[in-house]
Amino acid sequence: MTDYETSGEGGEAMVGIDFGKPLFTSEEIQRKIHELGARISADYADKDLLVIGVLKGALFFMSDLLRSLRISVCMDFMHVTSSASKDKGHPVRILADMKQDIKGKHVLLVEDIVDSGVTVDYLKKMLLDRGPESLKVCVLLDKPDRRQVQIEADYAGFRIPNKYVVGYGLDYQDRYRNLPYIAVLPLEERQGR
Ligand code: IMP
Ligand code: MG
Repeated sequence: MTDYETSGEGGEAMVGIDFGKPLFTSEEIQRKIHELGARISADYADKDLLVIGVLKGALFFMSDLLRSLRISVCMDFMHVTSSASKDKGHPVRILADMKQDIKGKHVLLVEDIVDSGVTVDYLKKMLLDRGPESLKVCVLLDKPDRRQVQIEADYAGFRIPNKYVVGYGLDYQDRYRNLPYIAVLPLEERQGR
């Protein structure tokens, strides 16, 4: 039995909160990541790839995705947050930028979820301005019903309905990221805290 198998399928991993049946169990997440990893490994088999993770949401996804790749890659991170001012021109605030110069490199941006699409769209434009050889986006979750900006990830794990989800890196007010599975946030948690 692996650690993942013992880590709980229900709400017992987070004391006092019943998340009910996971939307995706840790086993389902790992299986999907291995599919994505195989595709990415094949697509970049003869290229040098720089994988850039968007913190904090992509923390666990990035870590598992990188370990599922069968090619040698470099990695870096950006720490971003939604801009409090909801400024249309700058919807995203860069708390910490990556260290690498991406000019002339094959870059894969790794995010937790594409929801309205504003964040990925903004980050893509920002990175394209820096002159990479190529730029693709990989997300674990895709919530197409909420899209405000026409954008599709090049690699997407699961399509999900218009529900607020937490776990495996995804948060509500910076909590529940450490759930080993992905669950819909119970409504009473959303209103009550
Ligand atoms: P955007 O709306 O596509 O710009 O997504 C902005 C950010 O909102 C994502 O990077 C996530 O961090 C967060 N987000 C969107 N939907 C969810 C969700 O269902 N659960 C947790 N975070 C979410
Ligand atoms: Mg977030």
